[in-house]
Amino acid sequence: MSFDRSLKIAPSILSADFANFGMECAAIEAQGADWVHVDVMDGHFVPNITFGPATCAAIRPHIKGVMDVHLMIAPVDPYIDAFAQAGADVITAHVEAGPHIHRTLQAIRAAGAKAGVALNPGTPASAVEYLLDMVDLVCVMTVNPGFGGQKFIHSQVDKVRALRAMIGDRPIHIEIDGGVDPTTAPLVAAAGADVLVAGSAVFRGGSVINPAPYGANIRAIRDACAG
Ligand code: DX5
Ligand code: ZN
Repeated sequence: MSFDRSLKIAPSILSADFANFGMECAAIEAQGADWVHVDVMDGHFVPNITFGPATCAAIRPHIKGVMDVHLMIAPVDPYIDAFAQAGADVITAHVEAGPHIHRTLQAIRAAGAKAGVALNPGTPASAVEYLLDMVDLVCVMTVNPGFGGQKFIHSQVDKVRALRAMIGDRPIHIEIDGGVDPTTAPLVAAAGADVLVAGSAVFRGGSVINPAPYGANIRAIRDACAG
C-alpha cells in the first residue's frame, strides 16, 4: 500500500446488501472504487451493531485493493490482532474510544496494519497533534458515527483545513466519513482530504445484479471534485 494524495473513493459497505458482501465488494471495485470501507459497530461506542472480525475475514478474499476497517467500538485493544489477522490494510480507532489512543495506535502498527485515528464531530483537530508521527490516516467524521444516510456537518470543513496544515509533508491520508455526495465532496477535497468514504451516495440505485449505478455514482463524486 503506497502513499499518495490522489483522490480515492471508498464506498462503505454499511450501505451494501448485508446478505451479499462478497459480491458487493467485487461489484464496487469493478465499478471504480479505490478502497473498500468496512464499518464495525458494537452497540456500545455507537448506538448500532454491524459485524466483527469474522465477517472481515470472510469478505477479504473478495477485495483486491485496500480493506479500510473503521472501528466504532470500545474497548479497541483486545480486538486489534483479530482485525489485522482478518486482513485489514488500515485499522482506524476513535480518539474518543478510550483513554489510551496512543497505545492503541502503537498496537495497530505492531499488528502489521496501517494506523488510522478518527475524530467525532465534537472533537477538535488538536486531539491528534501528538499522534501525527504514529498514524497513516486521520478520519474526520462529518456525521455522528453509527448510521449511514445522515446529513453532512459543514463545520467540519474547517477542521479538515486545520488538519491539512498540521500534517504538512507527513505521509498521512485525510479521510472524510459521513454525508459525502457530489455536493459535499468538493468542499472537503478542496480543504485537503484525499480519501472520501461514501455509503448511501454510492450504493443508491444499484445492486449486485445491476451494478452500473455504483459506477455512475462514484464517477459523479470524482467529477464533482475535479470540476
Ligand atoms: C457512519 C459510518 C460511515 C457511513 C457513511 O457511522 O462510519 O462510514 O457508512 O454513510 P453515508 O455515506 O451514507 O453517510
Ligand atoms: Zn466509517
